[in-house]
Amino acid sequence: MALAACSREYPQSALHPTADFGDQIDVLFRTIFWWAVGVFVIVEAALLFVLFRYRDRPGAADPKRVHGHTLLEVAWTLAPAVVLVFIAVPTIRTIFRTEAAPPADALTVEVIGHQWWWEFRYPDLGLVTANEMHVPQGRAVVLSMTSEDVIHSFWAPKLGGKRDVLPGRTTRIVFTPDSIGEVYGQCAEFCGESHANMRFRVMVDAPEVFALWADRQLQPAVPVDSLDEPLRQGAQVYLTKGCLACHAITGVSAGVLGPNLTHVGSRTTIASGILPNTPEGLTRWLRNPVGEKPGSLMPQIPLTDDEMALLVAYLQSLN
Ligand code: CUA
Repeated sequence: MALAACSREYPQSALHPTADFGDQIDVLFRTIFWWAVGVFVIVEAALLFVLFRYRDRPGAADPKRVHGHTLLEVAWTLAPAVVLVFIAVPTIRTIFRTEAAPPADALTVEVIGHQWWWEFRYPDLGLVTANEMHVPQGRAVVLSMTSEDVIHSFWAPKLGGKRDVLPGRTTRIVFTPDSIGEVYGQCAEFCGESHANMRFRVMVDAPEVFALWADRQLQPAVPVDSLDEPLRQGAQVYLTKGCLACHAITGVSAGVLGPNLTHVGSRTTIASGILPNTPEGLTRWLRNPVGEKPGSLMPQIPLTDDEMALLVAYLQSLN
């Protein structure tokens, strides 16, 4: 366990922030940490001093009993109060700072929590995706968050603090990512059987890479009739085996219950971050969704091996 601290990768560490929100939380944490170190050293030193100085010795007389020492009483009431003031002031200042109104040019992403996946909508861009949010480096992002069912909590530790995602209410997180890369996150409020399987990623892209990603995501899928074999057959499996009832693929189907699959092939993971988006991962997921993610609403659809291979190839082609 101690060696784990030597790891070079900190995918989910709040101690290695990569956004202004995370920096503020980190500064606050370090401030309070040093106050706590001071309190620890003073209290333990006083305890050790008393233990050794006043221990019972053979032949020693009973110690003098002291009751109601005014100076001591005042000192140990005031000292914690002063420490609390030094903790409270930066804490409250940080709370207000992280609740401040976003800049006018911020990118809005609507975050919708579902049991057990994340929907990300970009109202300014008109695009919808799931479980992997792309944002440009250096631009403020406003997450406008709500839930479709129960209470979830959005937490990407490197970006900043967690915040609850509640049905019937909108909560907000504002952050400006400062470095390019992939940030891990997960639901941080117990929300049912697969709470631990409700992960997500935030991909922080260079601005031009983000623009390319957004352009690509806006493209509708190739119409089924224009597809080459065997992708057309794969699309037929999608259309005839029930997938279309819950999932949307722009230009092909318009289900609303499950994640939008228009560009599912462009994601690195599936099923809310629990499996790699490879033919093997996708097959494993489709074969046994409830086994992979207990309580999942995704039904297990009986498919032959051939149908499975066709469907997987079709979904992977949607990039
Ligand atoms: Cu959603 Cu825990």
